[in-house]
Amino acid sequence: MKNADNHIYVIFGASGDLTKRKLVPALYSLFVQNLLPERFAIMGVSRSQFSDNEFRSSMKSAIEEFKEIDNTIKIEEFVQKIYYTSIKFDDALTYQSLNQRLIKLREKENIGENTIFYLSTPPSLYGIIPEHLADIGLNNQDKGWKRLIIEKPFGYDLESATTLKTLLLKHWSEDQIFRIDHYLGKETVQNLLVTRFSNGIFEPLWNRNYVHHVEITSAESIGVEKRGGYYDTSGALRDMIQNHLLQVAAITAMESPSSLEPMAIRNEILKVFQSLRPIRAEDVKTNTIRGQYLESTIKKEKIIGYREEEGVNPNSISETYAAIKFYIDNWRWGGVPFYIRTGKRLPTRVTEVVIHFKATPHFLFAKGFNNSNNQLVIRIQPDEGILLKFGMKIPGTGFEVQTVNMDFHYSELAHQRIPSAYERLIYDSMKGDSTLFARSEEVIEAWKFLSPVIESWKNDKDIPLYGYPAGTWGPDKADDLIEDKELTWRYPCKNLSDDGIYCEL
Ligand code: BG6
Repeated sequence: MKNADNHIYVIFGASGDLTKRKLVPALYSLFVQNLLPERFAIMGVSRSQFSDNEFRSSMKSAIEEFKEIDNTIKIEEFVQKIYYTSIKFDDALTYQSLNQRLIKLREKENIGENTIFYLSTPPSLYGIIPEHLADIGLNNQDKGWKRLIIEKPFGYDLESATTLKTLLLKHWSEDQIFRIDHYLGKETVQNLLVTRFSNGIFEPLWNRNYVHHVEITSAESIGVEKRGGYYDTSGALRDMIQNHLLQVAAITAMESPSSLEPMAIRNEILKVFQSLRPIRAEDVKTNTIRGQYLESTIKKEKIIGYREEEGVNPNSISETYAAIKFYIDNWRWGGVPFYIRTGKRLPTRVTEVVIHFKATPHFLFAKGFNNSNNQLVIRIQPDEGILLKFGMKIPGTGFEVQTVNMDFHYSELAHQRIPSAYERLIYDSMKGDSTLFARSEEVIEAWKFLSPVIESWKNDKDIPLYGYPAGTWGPDKADDLIEDKELTWRYPCKNLSDDGIYCEL
């Protein structure tokens, strides 16, 4: 496959954590695999003052610490492609100096005008930087493409997202804007498409006639770590559900696209967002649960509560756990509940989609076997794979049935390395492939859908914020969300020996 066109990769927010941990190591992985263009350079941009060499040496340490592919010889060669310019983000003059540096760099490295601008800055700058770039013509594509990559969060609510959308579209066209949702870069999320649309056996069952409900979980065992300041203004609903988990739900629920063209796939995803049944303000209390982790002791170690975390308001009402029930009003999914839950300081790290199939119409082997036990578990991470649960006869007399697992682990494809989400997304953005990026309408629809929840959680004092001890599965109340009283969420950790998911805490 042909590599991307020669270009310069400009990273705003270059002294930040994301650049160190994800972006530069991902670019290095692409370099090692010869997936970068022949002529290529990286320009780091941020407020801090560094010389090119100082920045190179800090990126070298970052690669050594966070690299996913080992090739020590190549590190030195790679960092020679890195440059640095300091900027004041709201000062038009410094953008002129950046432009001058880019012109010189293009001449020196013999690279044309193609340029990617990656915004890995605080979200408050997402409107400001593209406007300054446009003011000096750096959005102009006459002599080479210009692309803008924007990290999440895209807006804080419906109003701010709409304002940002309008601001960006004033100077940049939709096909120049790549909104990162790193979940879409995950191999296993893409594999959802392949599992569904390359196998004749699943698709006929993938609808309201056979599916009882769909459950999507993204649990993390870590707390807010050093991001308390950001997280306290966000909370779990905005941080994980508005973007990552609604995207996963959309890929789980979408119709088959007519082709693999970005537009064909994105249109089907958008249709799901447009079919989300609005949650009425009066239903927020019954269809959502929020929680906040409390101090606890895990393996004799004291874990502090959320309100004690650095950067968090001691009276904070931001949720670190969120669960919602919702419906997709279309022919395929009419009446099938979808459940999403996410939280920090839960017992383990796991992201999975579970398709719960309906029970058989007649319970022939009722004894000791729950007939609704057919589940297809798509494990997004860790231990990426697919697990099918079904009933088998226990050998011996009679017809006793037990649930068994048919389990595929990606690790069995030992020769295949799973690239990081950023590696995939950065590569696609270089090639101009927008399939795995969120389109503005999707983002706006997602905010629209969650607006009543955000509003009610903020204003309705009758909606409880439950405390849950760190290391547990969130508020017990969350089980009440599941419509069928016989059923609960899946608790992967309680089934350690059953499906082999490792429980970290
Ligand atoms: C980020 C959130 O977008 O996703 C974090 O801001 C969260 O709070 C992270 O920890 C989870 O990503 P992953 O890839 O580790 O599941």
